[in-house]
Amino acid sequence: MRFDIITVLPDLLQSPFAHSILQRAQTKGIAEIVVHSLRDYSTNKQRSVDDYPYGGGSGMVMSIEPFARCIDALKEQRTYDEIIFMTPDGVTLNQSMANELSGKGNVIILCGHYKGIDQRIRDIYVTREVSIGDYVLSGGELPAAVLVDAIVRLIPGVLNDETSALSDSFQGGLLDAPLYTRPADYKGHQVPEILLSGHELKINNWRHEQALARTLKRRPDLLED
Ligand code: ADE
Repeated sequence: MRFDIITVLPDLLQSPFAHSILQRAQTKGIAEIVVHSLRDYSTNKQRSVDDYPYGGGSGMVMSIEPFARCIDALKEQRTYDEIIFMTPDGVTLNQSMANELSGKGNVIILCGHYKGIDQRIRDIYVTREVSIGDYVLSGGELPAAVLVDAIVRLIPGVLNDETSALSDSFQGGLLDAPLYTRPADYKGHQVPEILLSGHELKINNWRHEQALARTLKRRPDLLED
């Protein structure tokens, strides 16, 4: 799967993809993540990418031309399944959206800044608008990193133990059961006896009960269906 991310802050996106699972996915050739500097597609001397809003008001609006030039150049090289705009007024990202997107081929992600982007970019190019939650961040870069992380870990072959993505919180509609590792006794705080029993069936039942109880307590909305 290939991601082309278009941003005014390419440096901000150097580190998030250079570690751990995301780095391994790229080394294995399963995911390709390419960051494009929007300013490279500006045609004026100042390399500006924004302008004053028509109709007045505070804040600058990102112009259509630099985005259009960058997207058109990418589309000349390959076809894209989705052009995603990260925005707090998009559809909220959840596990089922991440699952769906992990089956796509090539995806472009647009990161907004300032007051927003010219509506015509959304009308002409964008196929999906995604929010990572009901709060406003300074730009779309961190949301784009969140989205890419949520998707890439689901692509088959990325995780060593493929079942571990399947047992993630949310994946089965439930939050995760509590996890423990050594020592069995930490200053009097014991690991639940059942986990030391070696009885696989009982342990699975216990984990399922714990997951249910935790979900009921913290996220009863997940159990509604
Ligand atoms: N840009 C700014 N805030 C955002 C959010 N919550 N989700 C996606 N993109 C954003």
